Amino acid sequence: MRRILVTSALPYINGHIHLGYLVEAIQTDIWVRFQKLRGHDVRYFCADDTHGTATMLRAKSEGRTEAELIAAVSAEHQQDLAGFGISFDHFSNTDSEASREICHDIWKALRATDMIVEKDVEQLFDIQEGIFLADRFVRGTCPKCKSPDQPGDNCSKCDATYTPADLIDPVSVVSGTRPEIRNAVHLLVNIEKLHSFLDEWTQSGTLPSESANYLKNFFLTEPLRDWDVSRPAPYFGFEIPDSPGNYWYVWFDAPIGYIGATNEWCAANGTSLDDWWKNDNAEIHHFIGKDIQYFHTLFWPVMLKTAGYTLPTKVRIHGFLTVDGKKMSKSDGTYIKAATYLNHLDPAALRYFYASRLSSKVEDIDLNLEEFATKVNTDLVGKVVNIASRTAKFVADVGLSAEYPDDGGFFADAAAQGDAIAEAYENTDYSRAMRMIIDIADKVNPYVESNAPWELRKDPANAQKLQDVCTVALNVFRQLAIYLAPVLPQLAEQAGELFGDPITSWEQARKPLLGRPVNKFKHMMQRVDLKKIEAMIEQSKEEAAAESVATTSSETTKWDDAADALAAEPLASEITIDDFMKVDLRVARIVEAKEVPEARKLVQLTLSLGGDERRNVFAGIKSAYDPADLIGRLVVLVANLAPRKMKFGVSEGMVIASGPGGEDIYLLSPDSGAVPGQRVH
Ligand code: MSP
Ligand code: ZN
Repeated sequence: MRRILVTSALPYINGHIHLGYLVEAIQTDIWVRFQKLRGHDVRYFCADDTHGTATMLRAKSEGRTEAELIAAVSAEHQQDLAGFGISFDHFSNTDSEASREICHDIWKALRATDMIVEKDVEQLFDIQEGIFLADRFVRGTCPKCKSPDQPGDNCSKCDATYTPADLIDPVSVVSGTRPEIRNAVHLLVNIEKLHSFLDEWTQSGTLPSESANYLKNFFLTEPLRDWDVSRPAPYFGFEIPDSPGNYWYVWFDAPIGYIGATNEWCAANGTSLDDWWKNDNAEIHHFIGKDIQYFHTLFWPVMLKTAGYTLPTKVRIHGFLTVDGKKMSKSDGTYIKAATYLNHLDPAALRYFYASRLSSKVEDIDLNLEEFATKVNTDLVGKVVNIASRTAKFVADVGLSAEYPDDGGFFADAAAQGDAIAEAYENTDYSRAMRMIIDIADKVNPYVESNAPWELRKDPANAQKLQDVCTVALNVFRQLAIYLAPVLPQLAEQAGELFGDPITSWEQARKPLLGRPVNKFKHMMQRVDLKKIEAMIEQSKEEAAAESVATTSSETTKWDDAADALAAEPLASEITIDDFMKVDLRVARIVEAKEVPEARKLVQLTLSLGGDERRNVFAGIKSAYDPADLIGRLVVLVANLAPRKMKFGVSEGMVIASGPGGEDIYLLSPDSGAVPGQRVH
């Protein structure tokens, strides 16, 4: 029996559990369930990743303590993950005492071995908020290509990398003010000291070959840079014991959360942490995404090695999820939260679909929503469950045959496949395992078809044959349920109920069940309905829209808009809704825009209200807009204004804008989704 500790990367407390994270959680959970089914001593730990400036700022803006925020969000995360059957042995958070204890221990070892160096580090400081700004909290003009509004670490236009201090005209995202450069002492880990250890460890079969090669060819060819692991106060995290006023950077204590969670579980179960983390006979498997490799393959092994903890047996790295071939997007409704999915669809469907796409390679996987429906409906409903649903009812009275009939070798072949399927699971080559399993179903379905139990049952002389055919079909169905159990725990449970014999071990697939009753067949799996997928996408879009309104309004406290505009033009006297409805405002598209050379202020617009409906409008916006920039955009038109004859032609309406005039004229545009011709009210 192997002793195996398994982890998924710790989700950030500041995010939702979404279908991307579920790639990882489901991949890990399948592996854990597989190992448990094989009879190994497996534990699965995870936690919320809680520390950092983002948590501090959010707690502040929501008017609650960090601990309250963590408790609430963590409960949500755990509920979402439970909804997908993710079977943690313990789920903690990194702000725990159990985790702090391990941080201290590892830090002590790093100090004792002289791994820590001190350096003066320049960082941008938000004077108004009194905080140092992490890269992603700063935006400014790219020092290289001069594109405005770029993030603090690399330019989205020219791909240059730099430090926030290099940005031209930096702005703090938190307060909107200009930050200043300040120096502070930081503590860094001199990982170069363990260069030769990393050379060896990363190349020893612990990583997927793609990752190992990449590290070898690009990273380990040069001296490794010191890793900055401290942040000056104020910071939400653990204070460094021998460096008051400095806190461990979130990525220092995040992986320690793996040990922290184990630590809590050990305390609650009266076992020793050392059995898991200081034990050469214990295996440790981390499941992570490709974006966080360096933390797990360079920094983390250095920390473990220095402090005498067991090194990971394997770091299993997966790619990223795309939906319909694109990055998950809030506006497309493809940034789908776990909870939203569960509102509409069966978690088993997603577990199976991911399994059918995952391999041991570091590859992105695509959730093509149509393929998803087809795959689940064809394989699970059409092939697997179908075997049982077409046969179980015919033996409800007589049960399974007492002796296993001659089936031409179906059962024995499927039993013999067990080792190969297990090997595929072991290597996280789930797509291969799924193919082998569905192949078995593909062989048995024609057997059921050609023996047609629904015909056999018509003649009592065929009673024995009927029972035998169903016995074969149901036993192979049970084998499939066992092989699929890591992916579809619910189906395995239902199969267990059907035969009154719970599925608890992989070995059960070797021997047929005979001479026992078969319970009433209960519905096992629902077809994936495209309408439900659409409803889920729709809900995701609505959530994204509501969220952007919410974040905007929660920030109003930070805006100190001047009173000048309102003072310059006081509110008009009250009107009734009927008064307002007299004004017919319409969404319109500017399809043509030209200067009127004789008029200093005017631009001549041709507006489309959809179809062939066009309006000619003269708008006094030349001082603020270049006509060429206007073509194609949506505006709001006062559509029932009496036409007005002007020197250059008739103006048939008015486009709406605000501002005092001159360069300060601001056309109103509707949100995306609006179409020409729609009334605004
Ligand atoms: N908190 C860190 C991990 C600390 S582990 C000591 C973090 N959190 S995360 O919430 O951003 O991501 C958690 C895991 O989910 C990572 O392994 C990441 O690769 C994975 N995924 C996040 N989005 C994903 C997709 N769209 N697709 C697949 N995996 C994704 O990083
Ligand atoms: Zn640039």
